[in-house]
Amino acid sequence: MNSPTHRAFPASRLRRNRVDDFTRRLVREHRLSVDNLIFPVFVLEGEGQREAVPSMPGVERLSIDLLVEQAAELVELGIPAVALFPVVAPEDRSLSASAAWDSQGLIARTIRALKQAHPELGVITDVALDPYTSHGQDGIIDNDGYVLNDVTVEALVNQALCHADAGADMVAPSDMMDGRIGAIRQALEENGHINTRIMAYSAKYASSYYGPFRDALGTSSTLGKSSKETYQMDPGNSDEALHEVAMDLAEGADMVMVKPGMPYLDIVYRVKHELKVPTFVYQVSGEYAMHMAAAENGWLDGDKVMMESLLAMRRAGADGILTYFAVRAARILQQRG
Ligand code: PBG
Repeated sequence: MNSPTHRAFPASRLRRNRVDDFTRRLVREHRLSVDNLIFPVFVLEGEGQREAVPSMPGVERLSIDLLVEQAAELVELGIPAVALFPVVAPEDRSLSASAAWDSQGLIARTIRALKQAHPELGVITDVALDPYTSHGQDGIIDNDGYVLNDVTVEALVNQALCHADAGADMVAPSDMMDGRIGAIRQALEENGHINTRIMAYSAKYASSYYGPFRDALGTSSTLGKSSKETYQMDPGNSDEALHEVAMDLAEGADMVMVKPGMPYLDIVYRVKHELKVPTFVYQVSGEYAMHMAAAENGWLDGDKVMMESLLAMRRAGADGILTYFAVRAARILQQRG
C-alpha cells in the first residue's frame, strides 16, 4: 500500500518541508520571474497626454512620448515585452476599419518610436479590428451585424503587415476569425518578415471579464448590448480550446494564448500538458479590476493576492502572463533579488 514516495504518518510528516523559509524555497515547484511578464499598454494620440482608466485603478492611457519614457523603466526592470492597444479617436473609426493598417497611424508610429528608443524591449501588437470599427466588433459586419469571417481576415492581414513593416517583433491576433493565423503567416513570409512571431489568442472566450478593457479603449458604449459570442469561445467548452490551439499551431503560430486567466486555468493546464508548446495566459482587465477593488476596500492584501494569482498561472502551465500588474510585480521581484 505505502509506496516509498507516499509513506504513512508518522514516517512522513509533510510539514517538515514547510518548517522554515530555506526549505520551502528548496522544494518550491513553480516560480514567477520577471521573464514571465508582458505588460499591456494603452496608447493615445497627442503629446504629454495621460488619462486614468476609472475601472482600472492605476492603469493609464499614455501618448507615445510618455509611453517611450515609461519603457525605460520596463527595460530597467527587465520586463521582456509590451503589448500595445490603441485608443482610436471616434472620427478615425469606420465600418471598414481602414485606420487599422495606416502606416502613419497611431500603432505604427508607436512601434517605430519604441523600437528606436529601446530596441531590446519586445513589441507585441494586437491584431483585431475592434478599436477601429464604428461598432466595436472585432471584424467587418454585414447588414444584420454578423461579423464576416473571410473579409475580416483580409483586413487582419493588412493590419498585421502594417505592424510588421513598422517593426513589430510579434503580432498577436485576438480576433478569433477562422483561418487568420495561416493567412497572416503566409503574408508575412511573402513580404520578407520571416522572423515576425505570431502569438495566437487561440482560446479566447466570450467573457464578461473584458469590460474594463472596453472602457479603456472607449468601445463599451459603441458595442452596447451586442456580444462577441459568434466568434469568441463559449465559456462552457474545453475540448474546443485544444482544437483551436492545434489549428493555430498547424497554421503557423509560434506560441498560443488562453484568455481570460484565473477563471480558465484548467484550459491553460490542458493546453500546456497536451500540446507542450509555449503557452501564454492573459490576466484580463476584469481580473485586474477585481483585485484592485478588493485591495482598495482593504478586503484583500493587494500585493499578496497579485503575486499569488500570477504564481497560480505559472503552476497551471503558463510560460508567460500578460498582466496589468507587470510593473508592480516586477518591482516586488526585484526587491526580493
Ligand atoms: C479585442 C481584445 C479584447 C481584449 C484584448 N483584445 C477585448 C475584447 O475581445 O472585447 C481584452 C483584454 C482585457 O480585458 O484586458 N480584440
